[in-house]
Amino acid sequence: MGFFEWKDDYSVGVKVMDQQHKRLVALVNELFEAMQRGSGNQGAAKVLRGLLDYTRTHFRTEEDLMKAHSYPGFVAHKKQHDDLTEQTMDLSKAAQEGRLTVAIDTSKFLKEWLATHIMGSDKLLGTYLQRKGVG
Ligand SMILES: [Fe+2]
Repeated sequence: MGFFEWKDDYSVGVKVMDQQHKRLVALVNELFEAMQRGSGNQGAAKVLRGLLDYTRTHFRTEEDLMKAHSYPGFVAHKKQHDDLTEQTMDLSKAAQEGRLTVAIDTSKFLKEWLATHIMGSDKLLGTYLQRKGVG
């Protein structure tokens, strides 16, 4: 069993969001596996850079959808994205500088953040978008 298993319950009913969420889940697993292998800070730095890049792409996709469909929860949702981006930038920097001491905890943090965000804010957004005809 993987560290972070995708479950159907995570689906928000909007294809592009689900596809990107699955890729993020895979990247969090990659980070965990790199740590299990003992890849150290260099391994973590590499995966975290990729994760940060993809996270930005994904958040941009969601924010563009919110704007295009006048989502009323835009500001609060974007704030969550911005906070996570900032935290991931700090983690990535720490890994690059060899200061990331508990990378397993980093995987757990990202897993929990993503699962909670999907099940809360993204489900709400997904329901809203579906009502607007986005599937
Ligand atoms: Fe989101």
